[in-house]
Amino acid sequence: MPEAPVPAQAAKAGAARWTIHVLPSGVEFRARDGQTVLEAAEEQGVIWPTTCRANAECTRCFFEIVEGRENLSAMERREEEALDAIRWRGIPRPLERLGCCAEVHGDVVVRRRSVRKREEKATR
Ligand code: FES
Repeated sequence: MPEAPVPAQAAKAGAARWTIHVLPSGVEFRARDGQTVLEAAEEQGVIWPTTCRANAECTRCFFEIVEGRENLSAMERREEEALDAIRWRGIPRPLERLGCCAEVHGDVVVRRRSVRKREEKATR
């Protein structure tokens, strides 16, 4: 008896798609498993603050985790060092990540101002 075919989407490694919901704007976009928040945003036409282009230097890509902390990769040293440099802002460190470093492995809800779809105009 022949085996049932494996659905192409399930067979393709990294094909899982997760949802990133951004507050307060309500912007929502999808990420492949293991993609960073910033990579996914840029691929999906979402403008996410950055000046160093994903080098863990500018810290402008930071965000606060609202839900789904367990669905992000563990923090590595370069991200931790970059966040130490902006500790003065008073955001609770365990809830804060860098968009260029945090890899997505499940649905997350985050808070970051100034995130918008590419076609939207800034209101100010
Ligand atoms: S993009 Fe500059 S620190 Fe993440």
